Amino acid sequence: MIKEEILHLAQAYFAEVRDYRRHLHQHPELSFHEYETAKYIAAFLQKEGIPFEDNWVKTGLVATIEGNNPGKKTIALRADIDALPIKELTGAAYASKNEGAMHACGHDVHTACLLGAALILNDTREQWEGTVKLIFQPGEEQLPGGASQMIAEGLFEKHPATAIFGQHVMPELEAGKVGFRKGMYMAACDELYLTVSGKGGHGAMPHKATDPILVSAHIVVALQQIVSRRANALLPTVLSIGHIEGKGATNVIPEKVEMQGTLRTYDELQRQEAHQQIKDLCSGLAQSMGAHCEVKIIKGYPPVNNHPQLTERAITFARELLGNENVVPLEMRPTGEDFAFYNQVMPGCFFRLGTGNIAKGITASVHSPHFDIDEEALKTGMAIMSFLAVSELSAD
Ligand code: NI
Repeated sequence: MIKEEILHLAQAYFAEVRDYRRHLHQHPELSFHEYETAKYIAAFLQKEGIPFEDNWVKTGLVATIEGNNPGKKTIALRADIDALPIKELTGAAYASKNEGAMHACGHDVHTACLLGAALILNDTREQWEGTVKLIFQPGEEQLPGGASQMIAEGLFEKHPATAIFGQHVMPELEAGKVGFRKGMYMAACDELYLTVSGKGGHGAMPHKATDPILVSAHIVVALQQIVSRRANALLPTVLSIGHIEGKGATNVIPEKVEMQGTLRTYDELQRQEAHQQIKDLCSGLAQSMGAHCEVKIIKGYPPVNNHPQLTERAITFARELLGNENVVPLEMRPTGEDFAFYNQVMPGCFFRLGTGNIAKGITASVHSPHFDIDEEALKTGMAIMSFLAVSELSAD
């Protein structure tokens, strides 16, 4: 049976894939600069005789593994390959050798697991039908994101697929487990830049000025009513102002206050409405107080909306492979992920790979300089990616 074969191979390839992960971890590269990483992946694919194309958005790669009857159906598997501008503090033997860069979001793990899946799928290709595309995607951590750019470069015109899977490490979940959520899962993340301008003056004579500090204070408070009164109460919305700067003094009313914040939404319509409400509120409120507010919104990634039927099937396959107790439901998560762009063009399922281990003290969160994984998770990661691909290929 293919399931046993995959579990067996994941065990057999574990040491090799762990070495890949450690190499990638030691040599992290920042978004859109993953040149050595791309070369490393290319060398692996070449060695294994797996056909691939490189140079997608400069550092992205697409590999192809054909089973029997390759035209039957195509499933895509995606790993992001970039690191973060963080100085690693794990003290691990395989810690980053690139000063100021660290795989603190586990993209080394995603990449290594996809290399492992490549080994497994290549070995078993006589035992399944269809084609698997392996997408090694650059620049997940930086706007506009490698996913949208690969799609814009014609990724799916050249490599059409019927569905796509992607996984992400989750230190809050124990190694050996995976988590799924169908429908709305992760948030659209938009950046807010507000500039309130008024007429500066002496703090003792505010009637001769238009105080942008007071206007800004009103705006910060009033913005929360968009979350609590305007947004659909059934759809979580988050709005946080994280930066406010007005360079006056005890007795000086400044001319300008600058604010920055973030907006997180799970629904595209809700997102568009919130943008308009923020603009209307800021300019209207400022105007009513004799000031002016300029609102700039930089759109980040769209919400990750997992395809319901595909995700239902993935949960069934995951239970079959790992056992019911190792497949858990996920809560919605107000962070962003550019896998969302794949979900916009085809059925997609983005799920979580447990990488934590409380007993071993492996609990640091992603984006922390102390982040690390229980490497046992690599077995689960390469097995689940392989099994989801072959199971979905044989699904009706
Ligand atoms: Ni990440």
